[in-house]
Amino acid sequence: MCGDLLDVSYDWDRAAPPSSLAFFEEKWSRRTDPLCLSGVWRFRDLLPFASADKVITIGEGQTLLQQADRVARYVDLAAGCLFLQYEGMNPSGSFKDNGMSAAFTHAHSIGAQRAACASTGNTSASLAMYCAVTGLMQAVIFIGSGKIAYGKLSQALDCGALTMQIAGDFDDAMERVKEVSQELGIYLVNSVNPFRLEGQKTIMYRVLEALRWQVPDWIVVPGGNLGNSSAFGKAFSELFELGLIDRIPRLAVINARGASTLHQLFEQRGLRWNQGSADMEIVRSYYAELDEQHLKAETIASAIEINRPVNLRKCLRALETCDGVVRDVNDQDILDAKAQVGTGGLGCEPASAASVAGVKLLRQQGIIANSDRVVCILTGHQLKDPTATVAYHTTDQAKFNEVLGNRGVQRASFANRAVAVPNDLGEIVKAIQLYS
Ligand code: F0G
Repeated sequence: MCGDLLDVSYDWDRAAPPSSLAFFEEKWSRRTDPLCLSGVWRFRDLLPFASADKVITIGEGQTLLQQADRVARYVDLAAGCLFLQYEGMNPSGSFKDNGMSAAFTHAHSIGAQRAACASTGNTSASLAMYCAVTGLMQAVIFIGSGKIAYGKLSQALDCGALTMQIAGDFDDAMERVKEVSQELGIYLVNSVNPFRLEGQKTIMYRVLEALRWQVPDWIVVPGGNLGNSSAFGKAFSELFELGLIDRIPRLAVINARGASTLHQLFEQRGLRWNQGSADMEIVRSYYAELDEQHLKAETIASAIEINRPVNLRKCLRALETCDGVVRDVNDQDILDAKAQVGTGGLGCEPASAASVAGVKLLRQQGIIANSDRVVCILTGHQLKDPTATVAYHTTDQAKFNEVLGNRGVQRASFANRAVAVPNDLGEIVKAIQLYS
């Protein structure tokens, strides 16, 4: 027992991985096989921890890489240089299904009857859906009180998850779920679970696939519990080791300013992986400061409202692998970027837009070049958090203040306000002619 997270490591000599990424193209022609249809399991040769008959899939990973030129203009990238990897297309509407399919597969293979997670909403929605669709396990989810967006909560409730609303925030719920799963022998599917990250590696495989196996210059991802960033680093490190890619893209992890532990530690306090000997004293003293000042995570991007990311060390490793940077962006930047994604992309929830706001900042700082090829991960569907979206576009100042003003959001620069009209044909026609 080292007290640290477990990591999945393969003996590639025995696993016999393919000699070229183009190997995976042939799977599409066999998509009547659920393992070839799944955007996770068609890359099974690169996460060979489960035999085919054990795999649980509900059709995850049918996602899309969208070239988004209008959003590129907003962040000052050249046309053709910004791509949005839209993970909202997953069955439960977020990237979590990639990892859940893998963790669920492992849970089932060891005979688990119940599975638990703490969540800011998407992990719980995903777990609830895997349990509901397969009928194989009971979902037990831990959420912070008042902390989860309605779209996500409704999914968990609809899917019949046992929903424990903790009087506390995500960081509290995470602590409790670890204790409870230990005590009751419930399988834990949070990203402390190494199999989750194996599934999430496939997001990067699909990005490469959509780019015809060309490696982009940057991968930009919002950072919360840091499972995704950790998984991406592992994916690229393995692909490079296997000779399947000839270079590794740079990674930018974007925190929300009200939940910016990684940014604080990495950019302000010099914390580094240092080939495995990260100075964890820096982390302990930062957490002690948070406690002393009673500082809790606070951002409109509730999905990443996390101050104690469980995958911190693995993320540091990923940042080393990918020559990474970390930035934080405020709620104003996040919501403006989200509105831009809505206008010129496929739409997303607030946390996802942190990636686009991060690119804008890194462009201003000259760290990303105008001609760099950049992939932002849109981690969650637009419909996950309608409250934030409607408040941004509203004409009702009181509503705006209640949801956003309190968080330091001052304006809705890209608001698309509904036009109020009388129930009268002439007035409606006049208004359309005036505004269109
Ligand atoms: N974006 C969305 C939409 C998320 O739901 C999350 C995490 C993240 C980004 C951050 O990803 O944790 O891998 O750094 N949501 C978790 C949850 C914590 O409980 O649903 P990460």
